[in-house]
Amino acid sequence: MQYKRILLKLSGEALMGERQYGIDPKRLAEYAKEIKQVVEKGIEVAIVIGGGNIFRGVAGAANGMDRVQGDHMGMLATCINGLALQSALEDQGVYTRLQTALEIKEVAEPYIKRKAIRHLEKGRVVIFGAGTGNPYFTTDTAAVLRAIEVDADAILKGTRVDGIYNVDPEKDKAAIKFETITFKDVIEKGLKVMDMTAFTLSEENKLPIIVFDMNTSGNLLKLVSGEKIGTIVDN
Ligand code: GTP
Repeated sequence: MQYKRILLKLSGEALMGERQYGIDPKRLAEYAKEIKQVVEKGIEVAIVIGGGNIFRGVAGAANGMDRVQGDHMGMLATCINGLALQSALEDQGVYTRLQTALEIKEVAEPYIKRKAIRHLEKGRVVIFGAGTGNPYFTTDTAAVLRAIEVDADAILKGTRVDGIYNVDPEKDKAAIKFETITFKDVIEKGLKVMDMTAFTLSEENKLPIIVFDMNTSGNLLKLVSGEKIGTIVDN
């Protein structure tokens, strides 16, 4: 196995599947199966999930809502997704713990780094909810932060695109995919991988980012097994 401990970042929107809003149970179950496959190989899996399928703070602010208020709603949305993912994983017989950056302790454990690491060592999937617990930060930043804190080998950003391209592959058929790219080149070429806060945090802490297509069955397992899936951003 290429990686021992991974931080998987999933977007909230991905949970919508074919829907326009909310959570598609079919997609959720598919993701749980993909995750189970890697857990069965002995990979330690931590997960950060976005909340955009329910509420995005930035979108709220664009419509005149106070940004902090909107971000708090977004953080709660990630907790809803975390609970849904926890349920789906448990349906597959995968042990999980949900830890949240905002205390809602009747619902989930509060985030405690040492406890999170112990859970991972015991083979439990740890889902981190409520982002970083602060407004103005994205769940990508939360993902990088938690990955560094729990000492993950890499952050695996599951998207619907199979890697990083020189131009948007959904708009330009001639787009070329990078197999590997440096942090510096991503910035110089003006490519969008994560927001800058998340991206520079990853670079400074030498945490590789792998962007891959999470919607193709088997990709996650292939990736952790060392197959060339997606694009690796590294120093
Ligand atoms: P170890 O015993 O250390 O291996 O971990 P554990 O998570 O099994 O132990 P613990 O006794 O801390 O937790 C037992 C159960 O209670 C688990 O399902 C936890 O997720 C849950 N739990 C622990 N702390 C909290 C909390 O603050 N809030 C909620 N809602 N659940 C919690």
